[in-house]
Amino acid sequence: MSRYYLTTPIYYVNDRPHIGHAYTTILADAVARERRLVGEDVRFLTGTDEHGDKVERAAAARGLSPQEHVDDLAPVWKAEWDALEVRYDRFIRTTDPDHLAVVAIALEKLKAGKAPDGGPLLYEDAYRGWYCVSDERYWTEKDLVDGRCPECGKPVEEIEERNWFFRMSAFQARLVDHIQSHPGFIYPESRANEVLGFLREPLADLCISRPRERLAWGVPFPWDEEFVTYVWVDALLNYVTGTVDPQPGETPEETARRAIDAWNEHPADVHLIGKDILTTHSVYWITILMALGWALPRRILGHGWWLWEGSKISKSVGNAVRPEDLTPLFGVDGLRYYLLREMTLGQDSTYSYDSLVRRLNADLANDLGNLHSRVTKMAGRYLDGRLPQRADAVGQAEEPFLRERALEIGGGSGEVARAWREWRTHAALARVFELVSATNEYLERLEPWKRAKDPAAAPVVAATLFHAAEAVRLAAALLWPVVPQLSGRILESLGQPAVPCPEHLAWGILDGEAILAGPAIYQRLEAGAV
Ligand code: MSP
Repeated sequence: MSRYYLTTPIYYVNDRPHIGHAYTTILADAVARERRLVGEDVRFLTGTDEHGDKVERAAAARGLSPQEHVDDLAPVWKAEWDALEVRYDRFIRTTDPDHLAVVAIALEKLKAGKAPDGGPLLYEDAYRGWYCVSDERYWTEKDLVDGRCPECGKPVEEIEERNWFFRMSAFQARLVDHIQSHPGFIYPESRANEVLGFLREPLADLCISRPRERLAWGVPFPWDEEFVTYVWVDALLNYVTGTVDPQPGETPEETARRAIDAWNEHPADVHLIGKDILTTHSVYWITILMALGWALPRRILGHGWWLWEGSKISKSVGNAVRPEDLTPLFGVDGLRYYLLREMTLGQDSTYSYDSLVRRLNADLANDLGNLHSRVTKMAGRYLDGRLPQRADAVGQAEEPFLRERALEIGGGSGEVARAWREWRTHAALARVFELVSATNEYLERLEPWKRAKDPAAAPVVAATLFHAAEAVRLAAALLWPVVPQLSGRILESLGQPAVPCPEHLAWGILDGEAILAGPAIYQRLEAGAV
């Protein structure tokens, strides 16, 4: 079994999940499930980003210590992903002891290391800039609006303070070369071009410390207790920590060393991120790894944004649409399906209630739901609820009509699997619905409801329903990574296990099963019902 390691960003613990966050996490979950379904060994990491200024301030506002505050909030994220059927292997928190150890080891290694030109990788320098006391934030000259804080409009103080810097500039040429010589490293290509455009200007060094007197809530600098680690450096290293799970009896340092080895042996196959954090991943993260001499991830995939009336969905804009607003009406499967079917990976997509209702009614309630109910009802009526044995149906009732389409679409290397590999997730789903349409067409052609009136046609009717049921089964198995509950219901109604395995992606599994004609598998929604 090959191992496939994929990650989501770690989310700011202070926020609450909205559908933009849910998209990345559900995408990662569907990719992880699809890989597991074709028989790969997968490791899927998600978690929360828990240090920094905002967390410190939010904790103070609640009269809590930062640790109490994050201990209170991280479970909200975990519960959200659990409720959305997200099956991660580790939920990492940047306050986990083994992560603190990874950050300390990485910083020590940078301190001891040399840049390509032989100079030190880290150096101390004065940081000059502007500070807003009210917002506790640093600004550069160009951020200021009329010489004042761009956020609150209050006067700012010029500050000069000691900090630690990483010689990021020394890695500019190597980074450009790596991106150019590894097509698909930053994906899609338009995002790689964005990064290369940014890298046409000279790259500055990165300030990687914050004085503890201004910000105490961070990972301490191992050799200089006046500082904590810049939150992005801390956060990006989560991908290394997350390669393993802490074992009982192991010290955090031991786990950290094991994680670093595991990362170097098998770094992330893909970091799934939104386009707004492309620079931190493609530039900060990659140059830090280069400086550490650690393995580079194989791919950084930057997806677009979910928009609402033209702006990015976010808490600060005040337009956050949250999963819990939608799942009571549309189900977990409805939300998962909509997010993955509507967005063309890499581009922005506009959320609207109307598009949600239209999409779910058309695909899940009508196309798939009606076909399932048609086939199971006819099996009840004409076959007393039991499919014929496979040997009696194979090759009968124009089977090639469906089988050929099913073989093109399904299997471990069919159109659906190919679309997943090429990150065309919307297309992977669309292909499954082509099998659904082909099955409807097949039924229209063979008209089992008419033939059932003729007792001599009973074997053809039975074989017709057998093949139609087989196609529904295969469609459900192919959809399982995206709509696991719905697929599970379909599969169980056809006498199959709710969780498919690799063999289930092939044609020709059913064999004399008892069929349950139950309630509709997906309830049609009335537009304007809410
Ligand atoms: N904590 C950092 C990531 C550190 S990773 C080492 C962070 N967190 S975040 O919570 O603000 O954002 C996490 C992810 O959610 C980002 O990939 C971001 O692109 C994504 N989204 C936030 N709003 C979004 C939309 N409206 N649409 C799609 N994704 C968006 O950044």
